Amino acid sequence: AKPVTVPAIRVRKGAEPLVALTAYHAQAASWVDPHADIILVGDSLGMVLHGLPSTVGVPLEMMLMHGASAVRGAKRALVIVDLPFGTYEESPEAAFRTAARVMAETGCGAVKLEGGVHMAETIAKLTRSGIPVMAHIGLTPQATHTMGGFKTQGRDRADWDRHVADAQAVAQAGAFSVVLEGMVEPLARRITEAVEIPTIGIGASPVCDGQILVLEDMLGLHEWTPKFVREFGALRGDIDVAITAYAQAVRNRTFPGEAETYAPKD
Ligand code: KIV
Ligand code: NA
Repeated sequence: AKPVTVPAIRVRKGAEPLVALTAYHAQAASWVDPHADIILVGDSLGMVLHGLPSTVGVPLEMMLMHGASAVRGAKRALVIVDLPFGTYEESPEAAFRTAARVMAETGCGAVKLEGGVHMAETIAKLTRSGIPVMAHIGLTPQATHTMGGFKTQGRDRADWDRHVADAQAVAQAGAFSVVLEGMVEPLARRITEAVEIPTIGIGASPVCDGQILVLEDMLGLHEWTPKFVREFGALRGDIDVAITAYAQAVRNRTFPGEAETYAPKD
């Protein structure tokens, strides 16, 4: 199948919903690739894979390593890599240097960054320089310390205009798509109607032009998941059953058995 391009994503506005999932390495990307339009190497990997308390501590090197791995596992889907906290906010020039490294060293097709109005100039600079940008507004986890935690956005109608302005600013600046995270449905609807680029929702209702989830969340790998996640699998239980059985088989010497043991020629 032909690789999914940035222009092909952009024209999906209002059409068949875009399917996006995270994948942090080649193996996961190979599972997702046949089914998704977009594979995101999200900085959520810091929390999901590396046990960090938030995405604030994710270093660029971590994104480069996982990004390159995911790209190797994807044949068709557009692979997008998150720019981590502290590597792009300072100036459009700093963002360009980071994003150019991410593109060159991972082979991904686009980058994602968090922020609306205040990131518009940066998005314009990257886009003009040949780096497609997916924006990310609403609940922006890299700003957890200023937001006071992971809080659903737009519960108060007084905030709606600010979020709509963020969406319009990133679209105007040239973002080819925008993630809407953690917001009430009527705000997601307003934003989706206000911009000509596809909106990709996570905890942002079914009105968006596409949906994204963290792969490990939707596979049911965690002990706890937030309200917006649907567990399409129950892998945590399956994994526990398998590892329990292995441990027991080793302890009672039923593994390895004859079938799993090499014998000499005669
Ligand atoms: O880091 C991430 O996984 C993300 C998505 C959930 C949108 O930014
Ligand atoms: Na992210």
